Amino acid sequence: MRVLVLGNGAREHAITARFALSRRISGLFVAPGNAGTDALATNLTDLDHTDPQAVLRACREQEINLVFIGSEEPLAAGVADLLADQRIDCVGPPRRTALLESSKAFSKEFMQRNQIPTAAGQTFTQVGPFEEYIRNRKQRVVLKKSGLAAGKGVLESDDTEELIAFGRNVLADDSLVVEQHLVGYEVSVFALTDATDYCLLPSCADYKKAHDGSKGPNTGGMGAVCPVPWLETEAWHQIKSRIVEPTFEALHKEALSFIGVLYFGIMVTEDGPMTLEFNLRFGDPEAQVLLPLIKCDFGSLSEAMVRGKLADFPIEVSQKSAVGIVIAADGYPAEYKTGIPVEGLPETDAIQLYHTATTERDGVLYTGSGRCFTVVGIGREHLDAMNAAYAAAPQVRFNGAWYRHDIGGKIFGP
Ligand code: AMP
Ligand code: GLY
Repeated sequence: MRVLVLGNGAREHAITARFALSRRISGLFVAPGNAGTDALATNLTDLDHTDPQAVLRACREQEINLVFIGSEEPLAAGVADLLADQRIDCVGPPRRTALLESSKAFSKEFMQRNQIPTAAGQTFTQVGPFEEYIRNRKQRVVLKKSGLAAGKGVLESDDTEELIAFGRNVLADDSLVVEQHLVGYEVSVFALTDATDYCLLPSCADYKKAHDGSKGPNTGGMGAVCPVPWLETEAWHQIKSRIVEPTFEALHKEALSFIGVLYFGIMVTEDGPMTLEFNLRFGDPEAQVLLPLIKCDFGSLSEAMVRGKLADFPIEVSQKSAVGIVIAADGYPAEYKTGIPVEGLPETDAIQLYHTATTERDGVLYTGSGRCFTVVGIGREHLDAMNAAYAAAPQVRFNGAWYRHDIGGKIFGP
């Protein structure tokens, strides 16, 4: 198989690392990739991975048989649709299904119409009715920009003027979902699907807030664990029966079935699990902790997905635990610099290190993002994984590097 992975994040580095171990691979390409993927595959650095025609040309030139879409932008741009037309196998949904991620308004309506448990909410397109709703609200609310926002389109606040300013800003060029604020802890649940069957992977949790103690602004994710030690068995059963199963039934019913990854962002509340969002791809940083625990050949697994043979595929998952810590740039999630020279990286086999958008010039590695690296510890127990990751995190050295100190450490969740 000749495989092309689309994206340049630590998630795509983790996906590429699984393919690199596959015995089925005769060619491995990443577009645009990063300095980490460059060591495992051929980076197609100049390829615009959000341009369907450019991706198709690269597939023809490099004789690619399978494209694995890592990040959300190519999905929203319709890369999977063009590849399907041209009969190139692709792990990633068509644009009409990707709307479940790229439009929170669409996904809220999908959940409501199919009775999938979610926070009560409604969508606004006009400032007037939105302002009136906010000024008269009786309960705490969360505001969500409908379109893609890299984890930064959500505001949780009690301050009426702040809510209105945020909402006005969003409504200038998008619609706005306003929903009930839920209290609980979050888990990220991933299912692989071949458009007929699905297979659920171990639970993950992502630490969304910037600072220790889950304080500060929302980020794309500052760390992750897999599996989630504090997720009760009862809640996991409820997630499967009340959310995952009904969602796949609804996808079939509405002709939205697809080949790829379905990511359920879930809040476990006193009233049971509630769906916060769907994504149509792996999470970042969840992929960095989840994928190293998948033991079976990732090339064969991807092939089973595109051939509709997932039900027969013996998926094997390690019983170990993984904890990932994101090393971020000074200023993130607000403004930050890129192109900062990296002075040192951990030199130990005890962890795995995944890069985001790094580049290398004349033997020097440079940062390229706000969340620059993910350090992943793996161990027999959760605590072993945490200790391994925290022993290595300070060895990622560049000017302004920082990370949360409590990833995996809270038994009651992020
Ligand atoms: P989303 O992109 O919809 O997953 O929202 C990003 C983050 O905002 C979530 O991971 C939660 O931390 C928070 N959030 C979203 N919706 C709610 C809600 N209804 N209640 C409380 N927190 C929420
Ligand atoms: N970790 C959150 C996301 O990938 O959307």
